[in-house]
Amino acid sequence: MTRVNFDGLQSFYALSNARQIPLLGLGVYLVEPGKATEDAVTWALQAGYRHIDTAAGYRNECSVGNAIRKSGIPRDQIFVTTKLRDKDHGFDSAIAACELSLERLGLDYIDLYLIHSPLSSPERRNESWNALQKMVAMGKVKSIGVSNYGVHHLKELLGSNPTIRPVVNQIEVHPWLTRQDIVSFCEAQHIAVEAYSPLSRGHKLQDPTLNKIAAKYSKSAAQVLIRWSLQKGYIVIPKSSHKERIEQNADVFDFDIADGDMDVLDSLNENYVSGWDPTVAP
Ligand SMILES: NC(=O)c1ccc[n+]([C@@H]2O[C@H](COP(=O)([O-])OP(=O)(O)OC[C@H]3O[C@@H](n4cnc5c(N)ncnc54)[C@H](OP(=O)(O)O)[C@@H]3O)[C@@H](O)[C@H]2O)c1
Ligand SMILES: *[C@@H]1O[C@H](CO)[C@@H](O)[C@H](O)[C@H]1NC(C)=O
Repeated sequence: MTRVNFDGLQSFYALSNARQIPLLGLGVYLVEPGKATEDAVTWALQAGYRHIDTAAGYRNECSVGNAIRKSGIPRDQIFVTTKLRDKDHGFDSAIAACELSLERLGLDYIDLYLIHSPLSSPERRNESWNALQKMVAMGKVKSIGVSNYGVHHLKELLGSNPTIRPVVNQIEVHPWLTRQDIVSFCEAQHIAVEAYSPLSRGHKLQDPTLNKIAAKYSKSAAQVLIRWSLQKGYIVIPKSSHKERIEQNADVFDFDIADGDMDVLDSLNENYVSGWDPTVAP
């Protein structure tokens, strides 16, 4: 378990390329483009978040960019992640898709650009990675990584001796889906684990074991799950469209889950996938 010195929303993880990513970010999957996304991002920035996770596929990059500009916060103090859609895999198509994301965001550069999932083919994944490397060389992207990659996909990418290694693998992880195989491989390869759907999309928030632990620390079930991710050493990107929850989800730096309770939470694993699971794709 990686132990980091937490400093609230100013807690950073040093990526393998030495760039700093805020450990806790706001995810905006399934937040409607327009007012809903602008509000959520605005509330998050007001609450002190400095990391937003979007994707071309979420159709709200435009609204994320608007909220960032309206905040008046200097660009270099906000970390923006977006992602390459599966249907845009390939070299030319990935370059074009990344340029379009930049345009929609209205930004000069993307902090972290991810291959959203491995759902294409070995050739198209390799072409896509080459395109991402090119975007870094052109200064339009600072860091590149992958999402939903299983160990075999990571081995394929690392085995192609890329000029730039992936700095993160963004995967679904929470106590009901601990993904120890992928996590261990990433840790050994200095690829940071970014935990998506850290609240299991809300599916497991009523779990009695979780709620017993939450009561013990006088925290909500969601806060315990976010704190669990942080103590596991993961970057974590909970989503909410509600101001109070966005604030609540960042209020996770005033307690420490004891090792014994971390073990109890780990023991809830049942390989439960709340969304999709491309990690098992060929
Ligand atoms: N790379 C990928 O393939 C991938 C896949 C999925 C997700 N992600 C990323 O990860 C982010 C988070 O994952 P997710 O959106 O799937 O799910 P999540 O963060 O695990 O859960 C979001 C759900 O929990 C609810 N919620 C949030 N805070 C709460 C609180 N304090 N108390 C009670 N309920 C709360 C939200 O409701 P309200 O919004 O109504 O508050 C929403 O229904 C996404 O937004 C996206 O950025 C990436
Ligand atoms: C991936 O692309 C690079 C650069 O074009 C090439 O040298 C390499 O052979 C490719 N690897 C695979 C496994 O296709």
